[in-house]
Amino acid sequence: MWNIAIFASGNGSNAENFFNYFKKNNEIKISMVFCDNPQAYVIKRAQNHSIKCVEITRKQLKDQDFMIKQLEQNNINFIVLAGFLSKIPDFLVEKFEKKIVNIHPSLLPKYGGKGMYGHHVHQSVINNNEKFSGITIHFVNNVYDDGEIIFQAKCPVLENDTADSLAERVHKLEYQYFTTEIEKLLNSKA
Ligand code: GRF
Repeated sequence: MWNIAIFASGNGSNAENFFNYFKKNNEIKISMVFCDNPQAYVIKRAQNHSIKCVEITRKQLKDQDFMIKQLEQNNINFIVLAGFLSKIPDFLVEKFEKKIVNIHPSLLPKYGGKGMYGHHVHQSVINNNEKFSGITIHFVNNVYDDGEIIFQAKCPVLENDTADSLAERVHKLEYQYFTTEIEKLLNSKA
């Protein structure tokens, strides 16, 4: 049985897809959400789905005793980062080796790393006249956006794209693949 914690900082549209997609799954459960931003809409989305949401400060995230206790109390054995902006502390990377997965809205290793999130990513892709962008699903290690790649999908960058229009195209890929790729990964580990 997989008990997943989703870590999110913002809108939470990917998180909500996870709530819906795994609702009737007996083997894979979205058990809780951790959110490091009190203004984030993901908090409301979790409430609407009756999924426990723990709001944490950056200080709490770095507090090993606090985090491990939270995760153990909820039997969490897998973590999905869905738009989570804080860095995952080393103790979690070690404890959850190959059990923390992130999604990034570019074709890594391009346009990753600290500060590369949201529109910063899409604007840089456009500024560099890239012909393609896409998504990368990868394991999390100690370096931002650097862990082993699990899956990538591409989309074109069009001539008149703005960061918004490209973000929308990339989001569609996220919605199409993120839940199903995690499902495949967990089934292969079971
Ligand atoms: C997504 O584009 C994801 O790739 C990135 O953060 C964004 C989160 O969007 N890591 P949402 O909060 O799921 O709507």
